Amino acid sequence: MEDLESLKTQIINNINSALDIKALEEIRVSVMGKKGILTEQMKGLGVLPLEQKIETGKKLNVLKAEFEQALNARKEVLETAELNKKLATETIDVTLPVRPETQGRIHPVSKIYEEVVAIFGQMGFEVAEGPDIEDQFHNFNALNMPPNHPARQMQDTFYLPHSANEDFDMDKSYVIRTHTSGMQIRTMETKKPPIRIIAPGRTYRSDYDATHTPMFHQVEGLVIDKTTTMAHLKGCLYDFVKAFFELDEIPVRYRPSYFPFTEPSAELDIGCLKTKTELKVGAGNDWLEILGCGMVHPNVLKAGGIDPDEYQGFAFGVGLDRLAMLKYGIPDLRTFFESDVRWLKNYGFSPLDFSSMTGGLSNNGGQTR
Ligand code: PHE
Repeated sequence: MEDLESLKTQIINNINSALDIKALEEIRVSVMGKKGILTEQMKGLGVLPLEQKIETGKKLNVLKAEFEQALNARKEVLETAELNKKLATETIDVTLPVRPETQGRIHPVSKIYEEVVAIFGQMGFEVAEGPDIEDQFHNFNALNMPPNHPARQMQDTFYLPHSANEDFDMDKSYVIRTHTSGMQIRTMETKKPPIRIIAPGRTYRSDYDATHTPMFHQVEGLVIDKTTTMAHLKGCLYDFVKAFFELDEIPVRYRPSYFPFTEPSAELDIGCLKTKTELKVGAGNDWLEILGCGMVHPNVLKAGGIDPDEYQGFAFGVGLDRLAMLKYGIPDLRTFFESDVRWLKNYGFSPLDFSSMTGGLSNNGGQTR
């Protein structure tokens, strides 16, 4: 009997200290398998006298039940532990960035495009798009620049032959648009006032140095209504520069200027600090020109089929690449269009960061670059 007691303690101990399901199964077989200790004991019952047989038999049955219970309890503990371990290794942290890391980058011009659309979009502007190849009516004539107008020389225009078979005829030729202002006319032709659009797109001039490339980007803005004034122009553009440079306040000045298609015309300068190595927007005593603007000239309204006695409005044109250089400190415009992946990796933006007025324009969770 003492033997049975110590056997029981030993086996229960073994069961409770089994480290995994496999070890537990080995213990079960060694106790209750065909040749297990307990099975052997049961077999041995046959030779005992009847009374002892009954008594020991009972004890062995009780023991068997106890072992089974201990085995099941241990099995459950081990199974739970194993499941927890498995779950721990399979955890997915949905807040981690995408893997493999995204390789593509958004070009700074695309980023600025998005930002500008986000800002004006919230002010209620629609986005209009037009052709790169433009006729002279839309690019010049309708914008109060008839043939031989001296202002045509302000822009170094690329002319395109009217057709492949004809000799070049200046009057008939197309141009690749020198500015997005032609979209003012195209919009007036297709929409009735009130009009509130921006027209971003590619523009072309024969020019090449650190701040000029033959192809560059502009955004045109046009607002036309019955009572739109210069004060609206000033407020609208002030809100734009503040939102764009993500500053609460920024010094601005409107400097009188000349464009054939606006009267009066102005250029907007923003306050900045210029040093040899740095350009800081929003502080300092220097001024930096960022856009041209003015009240739409009555001749332009007429050319677009709008009665200047009933309607008036303002227009502006901003260089997108110029804004990108300023905002993101990119010194040479020519590098924008060299398609160098190292440059893009450095100056580009993560494809997963969208520009929005509520989520942040350029600074979404510090993951912009
Ligand atoms: N089109 C002008 C330029 O390219 C900018 C401009 C647009 C000025 C609209 C006034 C109004 O320089």
